[in-house]
Amino acid sequence: MKVIVPGSFDPVTLGHVDLFERASKMFDEVVAAILINPNKAGWMPTDDRMRLVSECVSHLQNVSVLSWNGLLAKLAVDERADAIVRGLRCGAEFEAEYPYAMLNEKLSGVETIFIASNPTLAVVSSSGVRELALFGSVPQGIVPEPVKEYIDNMQPLAATYSTVRD
Ligand code: PNS
Repeated sequence: MKVIVPGSFDPVTLGHVDLFERASKMFDEVVAAILINPNKAGWMPTDDRMRLVSECVSHLQNVSVLSWNGLLAKLAVDERADAIVRGLRCGAEFEAEYPYAMLNEKLSGVETIFIASNPTLAVVSSSGVRELALFGSVPQGIVPEPVKEYIDNMQPLAATYSTVRD
């Protein structure tokens, strides 16, 4: 069975890597698909996302990486995928994902399979990482080492205090 694991991966986190590892055990072929929204400037350039995701799945023989700036449903058909895989960290994510799963099935005939996230990684999100990166570095246990290095080489925002005196 061939599956697509789509996402922005901006940046890829340990939660994503955990999902790739588990999908890699469950399915014959896994495509990590970096979906690019043409209307949104990403935080990290697509090439860097490709490089980092590729590095983070290099230990998984049956996982390949691509980027795509079109509809996920079209990619699923083009790739002849049997299913789309999405990780769920909490119930609210199911609420958000369910309409997309239905729409993607209607557009492509490809079902979405949800995998419950590893609870130890449920607090990890790309948006949280971007916020932490803005102010310096990201603690251990959130992003893979290559992403931590990438962030450590970024210029952090110089935080300043301001006070009001009357
Ligand atoms: O990592 P994210 O941001 O949760 O991933 C969301 C993503 C990229 C999977 C979603 O936005 C998506 O599928 N984008 C592709 C465009 C598309 O197909 N949109 C319609 C969905 S029905």
